[in-house]
Amino acid sequence: MILITGATGNFGKATIDFLLKKNIPAGNIAALVRDTAKAEDLKNRGINIRVGDYDNYAGLVDAFNGIDKLLMISSNDLVKRGKQHENVVKAAKEAGVIHIIFTSFERNNETETSPIFMLATTYIETEKLIKSSGITYTIMRNSLYAEVLPMFMGEKVLETGIFLPAGDGKTAFTTRLNMAEAAANILTSDGHNNKEYVIANESNYSFNDVTSILSEISGKQINYISPEKEVFKDSLSKAGVPMELVTMVAAFCEAIKQGEFSNTGNDLGKLLGRKPTTLKEYLQSVYANN
Ligand SMILES: NC(=O)c1ccc[n+]([C@@H]2O[C@H](COP(=O)([O-])OP(=O)(O)OC[C@H]3O[C@@H](n4cnc5c(N)ncnc54)[C@H](OP(=O)(O)O)[C@@H]3O)[C@@H](O)[C@H]2O)c1
Repeated sequence: MILITGATGNFGKATIDFLLKKNIPAGNIAALVRDTAKAEDLKNRGINIRVGDYDNYAGLVDAFNGIDKLLMISSNDLVKRGKQHENVVKAAKEAGVIHIIFTSFERNNETETSPIFMLATTYIETEKLIKSSGITYTIMRNSLYAEVLPMFMGEKVLETGIFLPAGDGKTAFTTRLNMAEAAANILTSDGHNNKEYVIANESNYSFNDVTSILSEISGKQINYISPEKEVFKDSLSKAGVPMELVTMVAAFCEAIKQGEFSNTGNDLGKLLGRKPTTLKEYLQSVYANN
């Protein structure tokens, strides 16, 4: 039995879709959900619903009963995530889970000098915990979702251009769908025991590359301005964007500027059995009809 945590989220749902497309019987798939109201669709498709919350250790042990492979999707709670991941790993151990596949995070700089150290550190600690648990593992070091681009660039990017403090940094933006398909492939094939994969696109793209693609798609010149970080923060907070969001985007842009998510691997292509979706294909799917 395979269990997917975060099954009501984007990554989890997509992974379950890929498992079903691969003809894995719904009865062999379990979904960890904390709110059953969000799981009606999964239930209607015959998926086993296991109720559990990353904050509730005992509940997780029950929910993981009889599970062989567990896709542990990282929590989106930036404050409580460390303890939550610890609960999941320890509960998996207690419940006798055989194999954990963890959606971790690709990074080049693991020191405190990383602009996203606070975020990266929980992933690094979780990986250590999984490795020392004795459970067979596969670590997916996921690069930045291509899906963060529309959020970072803003709804009116085709009118306003891009204003982000990311310099000429290049990132291997990768679609979440490609990552979820890779997770489904890992869950349903052999050869992944105690392996770490860099789940990243095969090309790296700067925001100048993004504007070239957007200009081509829209038929008009889209410009990119990379302000100083403080100028960026000041201008967005004056525009009413919540400070928490501004700080988060600024930290990611600083990391992009430093090449934090720049890669050259081909693990993802191997896992998919084809080339990953290019950034141009992704941006076309979002902006071609705007
Ligand atoms: N690589 C990247 O660029 C990138 C970008 C964004 C996020 N991420 C990470 O990737 C993960 C998956 O991405 P996504 O797009 O699928 O995120 P998402 O749509 O926000 O889904 C997060 C899932 O985690 C579940 N969850 C949150 N807190 C929980 C708790 N205490 N107990 C049990 N389940 C809990 C949510 O359940 P509910 O539906 O009940 O809320 C939801 O199913 C995120 O959680 C985040 O850690 C990576």
